[in-house]
Amino acid sequence: MAVWVVTGANRGLGARFVDVLSARGDLVFAGARDPAHVPASGGSGVVHPLPLDVRDDRSVLAFAEAIAQTTQHVDVLLNNAGVADGRWSSLSDVDPETMLDVFDVNTVGPLRTSRALWGLLLNAPEGGRIAHISSLMGSIEDCASGRSYAYRPSKTALNMVSKILAVEGQPHGITSTAYHPGWVKTDMGGEHAPLTIEESVGDLLRLIDRQNPSVSGGFLEHTGRTLPW
Ligand SMILES: NC(=O)c1ccc[n+]([C@@H]2O[C@H](COP(=O)([O-])OP(=O)(O)OC[C@H]3O[C@@H](n4cnc5c(N)ncnc54)[C@H](OP(=O)(O)O)[C@@H]3O)[C@@H](O)[C@H]2O)c1
Repeated sequence: MAVWVVTGANRGLGARFVDVLSARGDLVFAGARDPAHVPASGGSGVVHPLPLDVRDDRSVLAFAEAIAQTTQHVDVLLNNAGVADGRWSSLSDVDPETMLDVFDVNTVGPLRTSRALWGLLLNAPEGGRIAHISSLMGSIEDCASGRSYAYRPSKTALNMVSKILAVEGQPHGITSTAYHPGWVKTDMGGEHAPLTIEESVGDLLRLIDRQNPSVSGGFLEHTGRTLPW
């Protein structure tokens, strides 16, 4: 039984992770702004729904303290919570306030949760793993279509946060890897996305389950392919 922490666990990819992890018997701390909508355990695992707003330092600290009351270690922190920036903002319609809000959730949020849970990750018997749900949209090399002034750089910066955490975690056995889940049929991805939530989460779980120092600091697609920065 592994101990997982999942952020943004009330819908989309996060809710599916909770379903699959609990079905296979893991212990899941599921953070959400609306914990009442976190899925109940679908199997032999245990799900603890907890309030979490990743923009709010106090909320993140209270979340970590609540987790520490039940467990002395965390095996995997899944930084999944994220927001888009509307409809692919162009230069004329990008709003600086929105850009800061998107960074607060997508970039600073994972840093807040990683820092708050660092002590519990250090105690993981086989080395703590931090998995960030990033996006190919954050790849500078892949940016052919332009636009999305808030979301794209928020994920580029998240990739750097992940790399820094990998370097700092290395002497302590903590790994940190950024993943692109594919274009997935969620509220964010929309109905035209080619991948189902089940396919994406199945692929990601196979990767995160074997996340180790060889992929720490890397940027991987759900297929396992290494992506260009
Ligand atoms: N779907 C795709 O095609 C795709 C592609 C690339 C990357 N991603 C990434 O995958 C991750 C999951 O996205 P998704 O597709 O599952 O999107 P989603 O269905 O829109 O779900 C987003 C989740 O993030 C949560 N969240 C947003 N702001 C939060 C905050 N301040 N504090 C805590 N939770 C917050 C949402 O909670 P509320 O219900 O409270 O808003 C929701 O649970 C995101 O990081 C996204 O950028 C998705």
